[in-house]
Amino acid sequence: RESKDQLVIDAGQKHFGAITCRSCGMIYTAASPEDEAQHMQYHQRFMEGIKFVGWKKEHIVAKFWDGKIIMIQPDDPKYAIKKAEEVRELVDNELGFKQTTLSCPNKTVTYLYVSNEKKIVGCLIAEQIKQAFQVLPESVSHDLQSLEMLDRHRAWRCSTVPQTAICGISRVWVFSLMRRRGIASRMVDAVRTTFTYGSYLSTDDLAFSDPTPDGKLFATKYCKV
Ligand code: ACO
Ligand code: ZN
Repeated sequence: RESKDQLVIDAGQKHFGAITCRSCGMIYTAASPEDEAQHMQYHQRFMEGIKFVGWKKEHIVAKFWDGKIIMIQPDDPKYAIKKAEEVRELVDNELGFKQTTLSCPNKTVTYLYVSNEKKIVGCLIAEQIKQAFQVLPESVSHDLQSLEMLDRHRAWRCSTVPQTAICGISRVWVFSLMRRRGIASRMVDAVRTTFTYGSYLSTDDLAFSDPTPDGKLFATKYCKV
């Protein structure tokens, strides 16, 4: 299913008449009724999912010129947990993740980036962990095409030697039209200051689980600074 969606999107970008919806970010062909119907359906679900009405008790962990980061912990009110779950489902859908329940909900903290327009434009899910396995750098040189293939298949080689890590980042997502503005970086910054009460986590304490190509590029850059 995931690869089929990808094909549709790739084709859409090459054809004249492809439109990017400025609200939900979906790329579709306006001339195709099938595409339009698919967009309508996606659009509605997405807009509903990222809508943030505002709560009486919001745990704001950071404020910026364009929005704020709120933290949702396992013992928070039901409405907050429900919203976190709703956003996670949207993100999982985009990432092609099939597993819909978290392995350890009582150790999971969700960070949402809420824009001034009251839309959730970023989501990060962090879990307390004890160990992680480092992704190994590629040993042989690849030409661009085979590297791309590797990207698609997520065939990273991992070390068999566990390393201690404190915080596992199981998902990090930013709305497609708002990427490369430092939103993911600001969410990870917030994790580092708030995840373990009273201490600031170093990048060595973080582990990004099963990263996508985007996730790997981001994590590599972030952890170097
Ligand atoms: N390509 C190359 N470099 C990148 C990319 C990319 N796609 N994304 C981030 N970087 C690097 C850049 O150096 C960037 O700095 P620059 O823009 O000044 O060059 C730096 O990382 C910081 O990037 P941010 O702006 O903080 O990251 P952003 O807000 O764009 O979010 C994210 C990055 C979350 C990976 C976003 O691209 C996304 O949502 N992608 C789709 C979902 C996804 O694949 N998420 C990762 C899943 S893996 C996991 O969750 C563990
Ligand atoms: Zn749309």
